Amino acid sequence: MKLDWDSEFFGHTIAELSGSVSRSGLEAVLNEAKKSSIELIQACVDLSDVDQINMLEENGFLFWETKVTYEKKLSLEKKEKPQYIEAQENNVPALQNIASQVFVDSKYYAVGFDKKKVDTLYEVWVEKAVKGTFDDFCLIHQDEDDILGFITAKILDKKTARIGLIGVDPRHQSKGTGTQLLLSLDAKLAEEGIEKIQVSTQGKNVVANNFYIKNSFYLKESHVWLYKKII
Ligand SMILES: CC(C)(COP(=O)(O)OP(=O)(O)OC[C@H]1O[C@@H](n2cnc3c(N)ncnc32)[C@H](O)[C@@H]1OP(=O)(O)O)[C@@H](O)C(=O)NCCC(=O)NCCS
Repeated sequence: MKLDWDSEFFGHTIAELSGSVSRSGLEAVLNEAKKSSIELIQACVDLSDVDQINMLEENGFLFWETKVTYEKKLSLEKKEKPQYIEAQENNVPALQNIASQVFVDSKYYAVGFDKKKVDTLYEVWVEKAVKGTFDDFCLIHQDEDDILGFITAKILDKKTARIGLIGVDPRHQSKGTGTQLLLSLDAKLAEEGIEKIQVSTQGKNVVANNFYIKNSFYLKESHVWLYKKII
């Protein structure tokens, strides 16, 4: 349950509760966490699992944020397939420039982690997507040589893909670029035979929630993130 990559990246030992735990199971986890010098435990619980949420809160877990997950079925019989452009390694600085401006709200700011470190999370994420080392690929939308926005995704199984990040340069938002990126993603995924795309966003990101709804995504599930600082 220790998150090795995240712990290394943020410089704090972070663990995550997986699945539902009983009261006694949680007690054992918290004792073990203290022994292993875990600093932060996070939990992502289905919003309908009120008993689990209440039990965690009674044991000192605090509300962090809500996570809303959407899904869209891909229509594979599209007549006109839009083109897509895969980002190349020489695009990374421009993509990181966009990422640093648009992903300004991580839940890790709220727990006192080094802000500069948290700031760079999305820059690392987009670079990894271009290299195919976390998300599988990154697509871009360009105006001549200018990159207006990007979308990253991971193929989860033969039928399902998940969007990691989508970001549009603030100067070009609300002009249809995000929608074009989703169409590019559809085209790329249709080639792979993918049938559905999932994406999660923060409940408080009103623009992103409405953006997905406008683009034919349907609500699949909602979760609440909770956290407890141990040290
Ligand atoms: C979310 C985002 C990718 C949308 O891209 P975009 O190019 O601005 O979106 P589009 O112009 O294609 O808009 C499509 C629809 O999204 C919604 N939308 C877009 N911008 C909006 C805004 N400022 N307020 C409310 N709704 C908005 C609208 O429903 C819009 O449809 P409409 O133009 O018919 O009203 C972009 O705003 C962005 O980069 N945001 C910051 C990063 C982020 O939050 N990413 C998502 C989480 S990973």
